[in-house]
Amino acid sequence: MTTDLNRRAFLGTTGAFVAGSLMASPLSNLAYSQGKKIKAVLVGTGVRGTSFWGKTLVENFPDILEFVGLCDINPGRLEYAKTYMGVDCPTFVNFEAMVSQTTPDLVIVTTQDSTHHEYIIKGLDMGCDVLTEKPLTTDETKCQAILDAERRSNRKVIVGFNYRWGPYMTKIKELLQSGAIGRVTSVDFHWYLNTYHGASYFRRWHGLRQSGGTLWVHKATHHFDLLNWWLDSDPEEVFAYGDLEHYGSNGPFRGDKCRTCFHKKECKYFWDITLDKRSMDLYVNNEHHDGYIRDNCLFRPEINIYDKMSAQIKYRDNTLVNYSLTTYSPYEGWKIAFNGTEGRIDAWLDIPFMKGENISQAEMHEMEMSQQDENLQSEPVIVHKLWNDLEVKNVTFQRGGHGGGDKLLHDQIFRTPGNKDPYDRSAGIRDGAMSILIGIAARKSIESGHPVRIAELTDLEPRPRRI
Ligand SMILES: NC(=O)c1ccc[n+]([C@@H]2O[C@H](COP(=O)([O-])OP(=O)(O)OC[C@H]3O[C@@H](n4cnc5c(N)ncnc54)[C@H](O)[C@@H]3O)[C@@H](O)[C@H]2O)c1
Repeated sequence: MTTDLNRRAFLGTTGAFVAGSLMASPLSNLAYSQGKKIKAVLVGTGVRGTSFWGKTLVENFPDILEFVGLCDINPGRLEYAKTYMGVDCPTFVNFEAMVSQTTPDLVIVTTQDSTHHEYIIKGLDMGCDVLTEKPLTTDETKCQAILDAERRSNRKVIVGFNYRWGPYMTKIKELLQSGAIGRVTSVDFHWYLNTYHGASYFRRWHGLRQSGGTLWVHKATHHFDLLNWWLDSDPEEVFAYGDLEHYGSNGPFRGDKCRTCFHKKECKYFWDITLDKRSMDLYVNNEHHDGYIRDNCLFRPEINIYDKMSAQIKYRDNTLVNYSLTTYSPYEGWKIAFNGTEGRIDAWLDIPFMKGENISQAEMHEMEMSQQDENLQSEPVIVHKLWNDLEVKNVTFQRGGHGGGDKLLHDQIFRTPGNKDPYDRSAGIRDGAMSILIGIAARKSIESGHPVRIAELTDLEPRPRRI
């Protein structure tokens, strides 16, 4: 397809949305000027911003989108971002100056989690649509401020929930939606982060609750969004426990950072960042600007997040969920089971002994981060109706890029935003809010020792059916 045809197709589907599709992406509402590319700016030129929302968009959507500005607090990382992404737009350390000078249609927010609200609100107030990375934000006050900002603007927020788009996740949605096990009554959902992926959160800003809102918000927002979407109901009440027993001050020793540590030999978590060119370019070469140390000690005493977490969530439709997240598992993977009035669904990914495999956890983490693994894999979902034999539904998908979900998410946002989606995978501000509110309620429950109602946190009222 030529560039012009692509653009016409894009604008054509945008028009179709205006005519009344209810299932389309919130971004299909954008008032892009006729025949012109989307003018986008990006704030937060770290690893996620420069790759998934940077270089990948530049390479895959040159006919649809152009970057007109990049912003970050680190001027060195900004310069690197331009080269890495292959763009020639101006760079800014001041967000308002960037938006007033470049007048973008779309602001993409990929900064540290605790700062998302600042750019989402300013972006909306300055007349732009906003696409933000998860989590929407890190506490209920900022969440309310974002909700208010979207309401007073005539612009939209989309949250980049990529997990929904993985074919394995979509298969579960399809089965539940079709009533394969009747009405869902309870769920067991357990997520295990290994000592590579789990540990990575404790090396940098994610280890501080004031920066990432704890993994209840930073990481579990993905899982809570999946639950909300799969169950198609809103969370009503949360009770949780959690503690920090492995990382932080629990470590047997500590150093300044891995590069200069005296415990390189005995520390199982030693990571030689100097062997990783991308991390050197992004972080080490620019740490003199802002002191952001990427290979920080994961046993540093200021770490104040949980490394084991467990919650019970009661949904508005009375579904009960048992959820847990651990961050120092020998293997990475997850399991879920849905109990319904007519049967049960069991699903899991990456649990090595379920396949009799011994997967290298280090290689697996590397592949997932690089998004490069295009190999296909086939995994079962078990549907077991009451009084019947179980059925195995095999789902084939790509290993890298969150099971191929990352690419589908991009295509839906930028290439076919007006298309109706039978699985309702586009996520807007309410989805972003409901997923973080479970994590925020869990934090508050641990602190207070009491269950926390979602309705107490913002003015959003939980609904039995999401839409
Ligand atoms: N959906 C996913 O699978 C996924 C994966 C990775 C990261 N993320 C999200 O992407 C975002 C970025 O994560 P990352 O891993 O790239 O982190 P990162 O640390 O590599 O990048 C964050 C960038 O934000 C900049 N920054 C910090 N404070 C700022 C401020 N006040 N104003 C402007 N810029 C500021 C930093 O200088 C840095 O360049 C996070 O919100 C994270 O949750 C999502």
